[in-house]
Amino acid sequence: MDIDWSNLGFAYMKTPYRFIARYKDGKWDAGELSTEENVIINESACVLQYSQNVFEGMKAYTAEDGRIVIFRPDLNADRMTASCKRMCMPVFPKERFLDAVRSVVLANKEYVPPFGTNASLYLRPYMFGSDPVLGVKPATEYEFRIFASPVGPYFKGESRPLNLRICDMDRAAPKGTGGVKAGLNYAMSLFAIDEAHRLGYDENLYLDPAGRNFIEETGGANIFFVTKDKRIITPKSDSILPSITRRSMLAVASEYLGIKVEERRIAVDELDDFDEAGLCGTAAVISPVGSITYGDKIIKLPSGLKKSGEITQKLYDTLTGIQMGRIEAPAGWIYMVD
Ligand code: PLP
Ligand code: COI
Repeated sequence: MDIDWSNLGFAYMKTPYRFIARYKDGKWDAGELSTEENVIINESACVLQYSQNVFEGMKAYTAEDGRIVIFRPDLNADRMTASCKRMCMPVFPKERFLDAVRSVVLANKEYVPPFGTNASLYLRPYMFGSDPVLGVKPATEYEFRIFASPVGPYFKGESRPLNLRICDMDRAAPKGTGGVKAGLNYAMSLFAIDEAHRLGYDENLYLDPAGRNFIEETGGANIFFVTKDKRIITPKSDSILPSITRRSMLAVASEYLGIKVEERRIAVDELDDFDEAGLCGTAAVISPVGSITYGDKIIKLPSGLKKSGEITQKLYDTLTGIQMGRIEAPAGWIYMVD
C-alpha cells in the first residue's frame, strides 16, 4: 500500500470494509461487514428530508508497543445513545457498538497508521432514518453504520496556534440539539465555516445562543482557557457537545499534572484575562489558539501566534502519551483491539 502516513490531512479515504446493521419492525438485524461504500435509500427517507441522523467520531492508533488501541469508545457509545434518544432514534446496544467498532478496525487493519506518524484510523459510527416519511415524524427504519478512514491532523500544521473568530450566527439553539451529536448542528455551521475560511480564520467560536454573552465552543471542538494563575477553565453549558477529549483532558490536568480545573460559564468580557487557549476534540486533539477576533477587536493570547502555550503543550503531551501507550492510562481508558 502506498500511503504517505505522515502527510495525511483530515479527509475521507475509502477503506475496504464498513459495518452495516438495519433496524426494522422494532429490532436490529445481526449486522455485517460490507465492501459497498454507497448507501441506497428511498428519495423520501427521513434523513434526506428532515435530517434525522446522529454520528460519532473516534480514533484507532498503533500504540508504541505495536498494539492497536482505541481511546474510550465506551463513552462514544454512551453519547450516541443520548443522541439517538434526543433524535427519536433506536439505540444500538453498547456491547454491539463496541464489537462492531472492533470488527471494522480489524477488517481494515492495514489502514491503521504506524506508530509515530501522527496519523490514526478515524472511525465514524452514524445512524439515520432510512424509510420514507412525508409528514414530519420520525422514521420507523434505520441504518447504523461505521466506516473507517486514515487521517492526519484536523488543522493544517497542527502545532501552529489557530486564529478564531467569534461568530455572529449560532450553531445551536437554547434547548435545541447542541448537546448531542446530530448532523443538523453541523449543517447549521456550514455557512459560517465557509465564511470564516474565506476571511482567513481557522474556526468559528460560538456564543451562548440565548443571550450571546458567554463562550460556548467551536464548530468541531470544545475550548479551554488557562488563567494567569495557571488554572484551566472550560465553558459549562447545555448547548455544547460533552467532549470526551475535554473530560479526559480535565482529568489528566488535575490527576497527572496537579493543575486546578474549573467548569463554569465564561463571559466574552473575560477573554482579555487569559494566558493560553486551546481546542480539544477527537479530530482537533489539543490545538493551541493564538488569537480570537470579536468584531473589530483582536484578542491575542499572550502565549503568541508561533507556538503552543506551555500548559497547552503539557496537556497535549500527556494526553497523547496516554493514548499512544507511552504514559500509563487510568483504568478503562484504553480499549485493545487486537
Ligand atoms: N464539539 C463539537 C461540536 C464536536 O464536533 C466535537 C467532536 O466530536 C467535539 C466538541 C469534541 O468531542 P470529542 O472530544 O468527544 O471528540
Ligand atoms: C470529531 O472530532 O470526531 C468530530 O466529529 C468533529 C468533526 C468536526 C470532524
